Amino acid sequence: MIDYSKNTPEPGDGNILTAQYTPEDDAEGSLRPRYLKEYIGQEKAKQNLSVFIESARRRSEPLDHVILHGPPGLGKTTLAAIIANEMGSTLRKTSGPAIEKPRDLAALLTSLDENDVLFIDEIHRLNRQVEEILYPAMEDRQIDIIIGQGPAATSISIDLKPFTLVGATTRSGQLSSPLRDRFGIDLKLELYKPEELRRIITRSADILKVEIDPDGALEIASRSRGTPRIANRLLRRVRDFAEIYSGGVITRELADKALKMLDIDGSGLDAIDRRLLRGIIENYGGGPVGLDTIAATINEESVTIEDVYEPYLLQQGFLTRTPRGRCVTPRAYAHLGIPFSGNSPDAGGQTSLKL
Ligand code: ADE
Repeated sequence: MIDYSKNTPEPGDGNILTAQYTPEDDAEGSLRPRYLKEYIGQEKAKQNLSVFIESARRRSEPLDHVILHGPPGLGKTTLAAIIANEMGSTLRKTSGPAIEKPRDLAALLTSLDENDVLFIDEIHRLNRQVEEILYPAMEDRQIDIIIGQGPAATSISIDLKPFTLVGATTRSGQLSSPLRDRFGIDLKLELYKPEELRRIITRSADILKVEIDPDGALEIASRSRGTPRIANRLLRRVRDFAEIYSGGVITRELADKALKMLDIDGSGLDAIDRRLLRGIIENYGGGPVGLDTIAATINEESVTIEDVYEPYLLQQGFLTRTPRGRCVTPRAYAHLGIPFSGNSPDAGGQTSLKL
C-alpha cells in the first residue's frame, strides 16, 4: 500500500473520544478487517457492496467509483482497503488536502496500474482546479493537460488505465454536485450499535490477546460513541487499567472504573460533550443557538463540533438541530442533573421541547 497522505493534525486531536486519527492508530492496522466477511456492522452498505464487487469481478471490470460518507472513525479507510483486497487490486492512499496542484493529481493518476484502487480521504477538501482534473479521469479515463503558456499553449489528452476511485468524506454537503454525480456507488456509514461494537471489541481483544468478559466488552461498547476507532482506543486504555488493577482481565466493573477515570460517563459523553451541553443551557437557555456561537462559547472549532461531537449527541437525543439553531433536549438536562424549565423563549417553533 502506498500512502501519499500528509499527516496533518486535525481539529480535536489529542482527545481520546474525538475519533480523529492519532499516531497510536497506526497500531490499529492489525485490528482492521481485511475482507468483507470479517467486517462487523454497516449491514446495508456491506450487502450492497458485496453485490457490486461480485458483479464487477464476474465481468472482469474494475468496480465503479465509490463515495463513502459518515463521521470520522467509522471505517471508511478500512472499507477502501477491503474493496482493494476483494477486487485483488492494489490500494493507493492519499487525501484531499495533500493534493495541492492539478499536476500532483495528474502524476498520481498516470502512475496508477490497471485496476488500482485510489483512495482519496477528505475528498471534499480538494481544491477546484484539482477537482476538475478528476471529472474526465472518472468519466472517460482521460486527463487533459495544458502544455506551454499563452497563445502557444496546447492541450493534450492522456489515457489512463482502468481504476476505481474511492472517495471518503465527513461532509457530504460540501461535495460539489459534478463530483458527487460521477460516483456510481454511494455508501453512507452510520454510527454503530453497542452490540456491533461489542463484537468488534471482542474481536480486537482476541487479536491483542487481552482477556475480556462479554459484559466488559459491552460496557466499553456502550461508551464508545458508536465509533470503532474510539472503541479500539478505549479497549487499549482499559487494558492498561486491567493490567494494574485486575490481573489483566477486563470485567464490567473494571471497565466502568477505568472509563470513569478517563472522564467518560455512563452515556459515553466526555468533558467536552458535557461542556457543550452545559454551555448552551447556561448561556442560551437551552437554545436555539447557532453553531458558531456555541463554538465561540466553548472555544472549539465549529467544524469539530459539527463533525465530531454533534453526530453522537444528536443520535443519543441530547441535542436537536433546528432551522433556528441547536437545542438541548430535556433528556440532556436530566443526564446533567439540571432541572428543565423549557428552552429559551426565543425557541419559537421548538414547542415540542417545551414541557
Ligand atoms: N475494527 C474496526 N472496525 C471494524 C469493523 N467494522 N469490523 C471488524 N473489526 C473492526
